Amino acid sequence: MRYGYFDDAAREYVIDRVDVPQSMTNYLGTQRMGTVISHNAGGYSWLDSPQHHRITRFRPNGVPMDWPGHYVYLRDEESGKYWSVSWQPTGLPLDEAKYEARHGLSYSRFLCETEGIRGEQILFIPREEGGEDPVEIFDVRIRNDSDRERKLSVFGYVEFSFHEIDMDNQNFQMSLYAAGSHREDGAAVCELHYEKDAFQFFAGNFEPDGFDGVRESFIGPYRTERNPLGVEKGALSGSLELGGNPCGALQKKITLAPGEEKRVLFYLGTGRGDAARKARERYDEAGCDRAFGELRRFWDEKLGRLQVSTPHENMNRSLNIWNFYQSEVNVLFSRFSSFIEVGGRTGLGYRDTAQDAMCIPHGEPAMCEKRIRQLLHGQMRAGYGLHLFDPAVLEKGEDDGFKSPTVIPEADKKSMLHGIKDACADDALWLIPAIIENVRESGDLSFFDEVIPFADEGEATVWDHMKAALDFSYAQTGSHGVTKGLRADWNDCLNLGGGESAMVAFLLIWATNHFLDAAAALGREEDIAKYARLKAGMEETCRETLWNGEWFLRGFTAYGRPIGALDAKEGKVHMESNTWAVVSGAATREMGLSCMDAVDEWLYTPWGLMLNAPSFVTLDDSIGFVTRVYPGVKENGAIFSHPNPWAWVAECMLGRGGRAMKFYDALLPENQNDKMEIRQAEPYSYCQFIMGKDHTAFGRARHPFMTGSSGWAYYAATRYMLGIRPGFDGLTVDPCIPAEWDGFEAVRKWRGAEYRIRVENPEHVEKGVRRITVDGKVAETIPAFTEGIHTVDILMG
Ligand code: GLC
Repeated sequence: MRYGYFDDAAREYVIDRVDVPQSMTNYLGTQRMGTVISHNAGGYSWLDSPQHHRITRFRPNGVPMDWPGHYVYLRDEESGKYWSVSWQPTGLPLDEAKYEARHGLSYSRFLCETEGIRGEQILFIPREEGGEDPVEIFDVRIRNDSDRERKLSVFGYVEFSFHEIDMDNQNFQMSLYAAGSHREDGAAVCELHYEKDAFQFFAGNFEPDGFDGVRESFIGPYRTERNPLGVEKGALSGSLELGGNPCGALQKKITLAPGEEKRVLFYLGTGRGDAARKARERYDEAGCDRAFGELRRFWDEKLGRLQVSTPHENMNRSLNIWNFYQSEVNVLFSRFSSFIEVGGRTGLGYRDTAQDAMCIPHGEPAMCEKRIRQLLHGQMRAGYGLHLFDPAVLEKGEDDGFKSPTVIPEADKKSMLHGIKDACADDALWLIPAIIENVRESGDLSFFDEVIPFADEGEATVWDHMKAALDFSYAQTGSHGVTKGLRADWNDCLNLGGGESAMVAFLLIWATNHFLDAAAALGREEDIAKYARLKAGMEETCRETLWNGEWFLRGFTAYGRPIGALDAKEGKVHMESNTWAVVSGAATREMGLSCMDAVDEWLYTPWGLMLNAPSFVTLDDSIGFVTRVYPGVKENGAIFSHPNPWAWVAECMLGRGGRAMKFYDALLPENQNDKMEIRQAEPYSYCQFIMGKDHTAFGRARHPFMTGSSGWAYYAATRYMLGIRPGFDGLTVDPCIPAEWDGFEAVRKWRGAEYRIRVENPEHVEKGVRRITVDGKVAETIPAFTEGIHTVDILMG
């Protein structure tokens, strides 16, 4: 069963049955200000940090799950009937009103038709040079589709939040008296009295006919956003108070002749009356149209950097629009702003951010580079990364500002630094391919010589930061000579401590491969000799100690017990070790074919590959928290999406394009649009996990958008399945596709040039390039041009 459809021309997902089992998410904003918004207009905004600078309030894990929001209500002044333009919060019965929600790229659109009135609300945050003074715009149009004159009231409503999320959620004996409401220049202004110059506003492009600055006055006692008193009465009370819960509620009365449409704009931003006035002037109707046009053009240009045309419609839709968009959102808002991570944490998760920045360097190079610099700064001199850290705190250094026992203490640098005991064995290793993919994209080798401080002490070139990460991992080995698992490896719930992790060993080999490629481009012979030797040693150890005859062990506990042995009853076959054995190149071809067959046999489901099978059922703290997670959920036997693309890469490296596509198709959200009663999640977004076979809700997806699955899906599909990979000196096109494909086309922009790639597959092979033709001439390689349009014809065979 489906709840919506893809409108590819508009690049929108259209929810035409709004009563979906779980509301569907989108993100607004492309710079500093962000809003997470549901198809019910529920959600919240922040500036820079969802933890430290929240603008509007969200009630986490609430009932309903996506309230409150950025709402517009309409009221018929004659009949007294009222409704919201988004289906919620008023939630009119769907036989009384026609509702539709459209999620587009950085905007959402809500539509309602009832009582002869068509209401439309577009929410978006304009892009601006430098991203300063950000404002969210509510662009509302109301049309009279009846044959008589209508008198209506339009209400815009938001509930303000304390900046600091902890302050917003606790110690109400203090916090309820620490914020106040003002009316300035027709705008509702919320003041956070405890901070210096902390104001936020909600304004309209009109002098309001009604106003409320206090939530309780607008909503009324024993009511909710579903039936606010102010809207029901058709008159707001003009409430203002120093203390309480500030809100912004503005009323505008309009009269519409039959067929007439009027437009009303609301603005949400930081600052006070003068900032509201500025927003009103900058984004009058023409300014608003201009800003929306710019946002559309911004995405057109960005998506245009890689467009593919394959025989697989949903793959095209995903790579050309949604998968790329999701990956961008991850890099931009990395990563704690969603309905699940409700902003209670802040800063960067080391491994997640590194992988996000690795996967789409062509999308937002400046943002990826910024993230990489922040991660380099978040690396300890000993070589490991700070698992979760706030770059702003690192940059700020020690803080000796105002401290009060009644407000939430600020994070300081000292408490953010942690020792090896709390280090995750994989974190800093992801940074190496992330750096190198970004340099391959830009061609700027000088980046390796840039000097960046460590988190604790001293500084080093980017190159030496990478060596510190490698040296740390090559030194952290256990009794079998395999790298230790430490607090966790990629799998947060596998807590091996001094036990050993196959995943990290293979990741270390893969990171070294990237490093050696860069060292070759720079001619750093000494480094090549040293790290090639270390790598060869680790490869041999892995083949000798981790191979169980059919597949690779996941590792050893600190007591030396193997995880993933042939005769294991639970936790028998694991995705991470087997895919990475192949991706790293450490497995022989025979081992690779055998272990990926085991992945297919034990882990494949029509919803994607499970992380491990059978799920763990016996508590065992020497393996880790994974044994305390319910079978079939998250890291214990769910279809954890993030590692699925590793299997696509592995199959491509083995040359099995059909198998890679089988795995790809199982996970692809767009393929599941007609199974929403089971999936219960956005068909345009990879989700963190899908319940596995061992769970009663098998097939139910959870946690959309903010997940490393997205970047990796894009990376694996574009670089390995379609095989388009930038290198230091040239472009590689080495596809691995299903044999039945006749070929595909792609346009890739890279370092100032445009490559028009056409792949032909007349012999219907899965892999293999027989001839490369560049600009009409047969060539050995595809050079890195710096300008112009170039044709690349690839003949497979
Ligand atoms: C979550 C975490 C990520 C981790 C994964 C597996 O997605 O954000 O860091 O690798 O779970 O445990």
